[in-house]
Amino acid sequence: MQKMIDYKKIEDCIKKAGQMVLNANMENASVEKKTGDANFCTEYDIKVQKFLIDELSKILPEASFFGEEDTSNNIKDMNKEYIFYIDPIDGTTNFMFNYYHSSVSVGLAKNGEMIAGFVYNPFVDKLYKAIKNEGAFLNDKKLGIKDLSVEEGIVAFGCARYNECDVNILFETVKDLFLKSLSIRSGGSAAIDISRVAEGSNVIYLEYRLQPYDFAAASVIIEEAGGIITRVGGGKISLTEPCSILAGTKKAHAEVMKIAKEKGYNSEF
Ligand code: IPD
Ligand code: CA
Ligand code: CA
Repeated sequence: MQKMIDYKKIEDCIKKAGQMVLNANMENASVEKKTGDANFCTEYDIKVQKFLIDELSKILPEASFFGEEDTSNNIKDMNKEYIFYIDPIDGTTNFMFNYYHSSVSVGLAKNGEMIAGFVYNPFVDKLYKAIKNEGAFLNDKKLGIKDLSVEEGIVAFGCARYNECDVNILFETVKDLFLKSLSIRSGGSAAIDISRVAEGSNVIYLEYRLQPYDFAAASVIIEEAGGIITRVGGGKISLTEPCSILAGTKKAHAEVMKIAKEKGYNSEF
């Protein structure tokens, strides 16, 4: 018999985590530097992840976790039935500098396939959520993507100094997209910026290296809204290791894949 998962409880728990982000006081907070350039973890990243793991364990006790921070307890065997992908604060740099554009991102996979995703931006009280085959929602509004092309919309992209990628190819691609689209944005929270493709704000989101916890939740949201998410070369996204991400309307996705190739992107990463 199919196990009933209490998604409402999961949603409530993510909203509580969002409140922790909202109530944070960064003035006296400790900030740790992680490996790589400009890569930080605040005490709130740690606290929020701990809170999520404690609470989600009560809701789905058999689940394992793949979180960004304090990775010591992260799952080693990726073949487990249920895995929560947790980014406690996606957009840590934004959070540190009061950009008010960060999210709590939680995705759930069953036997290696994403089955649910929640991305909550507490600063504007926007919860993007999707359960596989049940549609995507922004708060209570059902989302459905219009198949716009690059020239009809806004292009979003991400890059981080700690995530090595070929910045020349990235910025050549972005330059081309700037000239072809209505405008470009780099919001600093991949989870929100992909979810905003589902919302119809961006036609595409492009990044050359992301971790599964950055995009797992948003991948369900964009697919359930009628969009597409793959690697930049078109391959299936990975839930076990970093990969590139191209998430968009079907039209824009095909266009950007072609442009990235023309600009020299030839990897299957
Ligand atoms: C980062 C954000 C950013 C993206 C980076 C991610 P973090 O996550 O999603 O938008 O460009 O690649 O690492 O470190 O703020 O959780
Ligand atoms: Ca992240
Ligand atoms: Ca993070």
